[in-house]
Amino acid sequence: MREVDIAFDGESLITPDSIASQVYSSASPIKDGELDAAQTELALHLRVAQQQFLQDVPAGQVMARLLTGLHGLRKRFSPKVWEQLIPIAQNHPVARYFHQDPFTRWSFEKPRGYSGDAGLLDFIYGHPSVQPMLDAASPLGKTIYNEFTSKAPACVAVRERRDLLAQYVDDVASSRGGEAEILTIAAGHLREGQMSQALKQKTIKRWVALDQDPMSVGSVAKDFAGTAVEAVDGSVRTVLMRAQTLGKFDFVYAAGLYDYLADEVAIKLSQRCLQMLKPNGTFLFANFADEIFDDGYMETFMNWALLLRSEEDMWRIMRAATEGLDVECTLRFGANRNIVYGIIRKLS
Ligand SMILES: C[S@@+](CC[C@H](N)C(=O)[O-])C[C@H]1O[C@@H](n2cnc3c(N)ncnc32)[C@H](O)[C@@H]1O
Repeated sequence: MREVDIAFDGESLITPDSIASQVYSSASPIKDGELDAAQTELALHLRVAQQQFLQDVPAGQVMARLLTGLHGLRKRFSPKVWEQLIPIAQNHPVARYFHQDPFTRWSFEKPRGYSGDAGLLDFIYGHPSVQPMLDAASPLGKTIYNEFTSKAPACVAVRERRDLLAQYVDDVASSRGGEAEILTIAAGHLREGQMSQALKQKTIKRWVALDQDPMSVGSVAKDFAGTAVEAVDGSVRTVLMRAQTLGKFDFVYAAGLYDYLADEVAIKLSQRCLQMLKPNGTFLFANFADEIFDDGYMETFMNWALLLRSEEDMWRIMRAATEGLDVECTLRFGANRNIVYGIIRKLS
């Protein structure tokens, strides 16, 4: 199956393998000696980290040094070389230290069978549901989580994203006088719902939260019972195929989804989302930026590969999705530039 076919089939599970051919695609062949040089450098970084752990060097210091090394390696060598370094890091004895952090381990083991599930995001949000796993972690695991992985810039950006989305929802609700209809695609556990004042004050008419994972849909149905939130089992595929009648919305958004979608699918999904907007409605999609620092650690010890996008990548999607439409497109970054947002407002 070709990569784009996998992504089009929204019911296919997102695994590192399923997106690796996009993330690490590179026309340039590996140059003579390049792989050897990269492997040697990686071996050195891993060995130093292992020795530091054995010598009880503070975990934050070990992590800072290693992350810098991994980020540098990923940046300097071609994607094809980097792809070959990933299993070396994952199989190195030092991995057992990082996997004492329940967040890193969850990402690596993928208990729901795919990358980036809503349970993983709950580690980032510090949601009470992850507390028992944190309590059961070793002292080193707790330190890695508390002092490092949960505080990583990418995680800070995800928490800001949740707050920002709740703010967008509240702004839309206050401008629609109790008639606001919202659609969240790939809602996960809809943690931004708990931050929304409009939801609390019952000034939202309908908030459809769609996800392909029945466990997440069940969790949203339970947590938001009796509110305007409707938990819906659906996927990118069902949205694209118009297999569900969802209606029209004032605000449609997707966060934590485009990072897994190839451009072709991202464009088609954006076009479909724009069709579901009422006049003056807004569509927003978020993507991890290509400036993130944790990329090397995420792709190795967390086995969590993402399609990182630049400003130009985001504009390319917005331009293609809005051709011939009367819209206003804007692009913004979060405070630490780890997440970039494409925002399209329908003008008529
Ligand atoms: C990284 S989580 C983001 C959850 C939430 N939006 C947030 O920001 O916390 C990604 C979510 O996308 C959902 N997902 C992945 N592929 C999907 C698809 N093809 N169709 C619908 N949902 C999908 C997963 O089930 C998961 O809940």
